[in-house]
Amino acid sequence: MKSIRIHTYNDKPVAEQIPTPAVAKDQVLVQVQATALNPLDALVVSGVAAQFFAISLPLTLGTDFAGVIEKVGSEVSQWRVGDRIIACADASTCGGLAEFAAVPASACVALPQSMSAIEGAAIPIAALTAWHSLFSSARLKAGETVLIHAGAGGVGTFAVQFAKKAGARVIATASGDGLELARRLGADEVLDYTSVDFTSVVHNVDVVLDLVGGETQQRSFEVLRKGGRLVSTAMPPDAHMAESCGVTASMFYAAQYASQLDKLVSSIVEQGVEVVIDRVVPFDAFDDAWERLVSGRARGKIIVQ
Ligand SMILES: NC(=O)c1ccc[n+]([C@@H]2O[C@H](COP(=O)([O-])OP(=O)(O)OC[C@H]3O[C@@H](n4cnc5c(N)ncnc54)[C@H](OP(=O)(O)O)[C@@H]3O)[C@@H](O)[C@H]2O)c1
Repeated sequence: MKSIRIHTYNDKPVAEQIPTPAVAKDQVLVQVQATALNPLDALVVSGVAAQFFAISLPLTLGTDFAGVIEKVGSEVSQWRVGDRIIACADASTCGGLAEFAAVPASACVALPQSMSAIEGAAIPIAALTAWHSLFSSARLKAGETVLIHAGAGGVGTFAVQFAKKAGARVIATASGDGLELARRLGADEVLDYTSVDFTSVVHNVDVVLDLVGGETQQRSFEVLRKGGRLVSTAMPPDAHMAESCGVTASMFYAAQYASQLDKLVSSIVEQGVEVVIDRVVPFDAFDDAWERLVSGRARGKIIVQ
């Protein structure tokens, strides 16, 4: 079968023919229809993710995918051949950038009837991160104001919608056509980070969701109210700076929330949340999808089909 693999860290991911994976007793074999790329894939390729996950090489990339169950392991009772699923594979094993992927049955949730495989694949890491960084980590509440940096990206397009639907006032940073996208998704105010210094126009917000890191994160401390909360997905915040500004700050890790995917998919359907797709790239043009991922310019999610 076709797959996208690396053999050593910092390798460019390459297309390779490999055998279809065997299915362990607690796994299902999925015929993959769509796979989303995440910045995590780039961290797997660079070797950075190996500090957090037990990765062994060579590795077929791809954590987030959707498709149809082709085979079930002997101990799997919750899935049948032909079921449509979304999978969130562990970064240590990945496997979704291939024609078939073997994943633990527990890593799958049902793909709703109303949803395409492309939309389903786009959800796991991005939506789990958006939801749980806002509500489990930052404890955002109705009536509060949240500044979301990178409101037009994979996580940001979910975060803007989740925060707005929860009754928060949303300020989002973006640039170019990302500004209009963030506004259309519900942002009350959008700021072009390439021309406006957000610290000069944003003051006393309750929550900052930092999806960028670096200087953007450091300057975000000054726009929080006393007692405000900063949550970053991109870089561990400076605890001393948080203390001296009288705010709390924490780093978010999505992996611990993977078991909540089922509930989140249902709420995306019920709340009519739009799954924003940057582009759908055919498997044989994987390099184009990869180039788009590492450019850091995506509007929503990049999908390989
Ligand atoms: N810790 C975790 O568990 C976890 C989970 C998911 C994601 N993450 C991290 O969270 C970050 C965001 O992930 P993602 O999937 O949303 O990435 P993404 O889709 O690649 O983000 C791309 C977006 O970022 C915007 N952007 C870049 N620099 C910006 C800036 N200075 N200000 C405002 N917008 C900016 C780009 O807009 P322009 O094109 O206009 O520049 C683009 O729309 C990444 O660092 C990722 O590694 C961490």
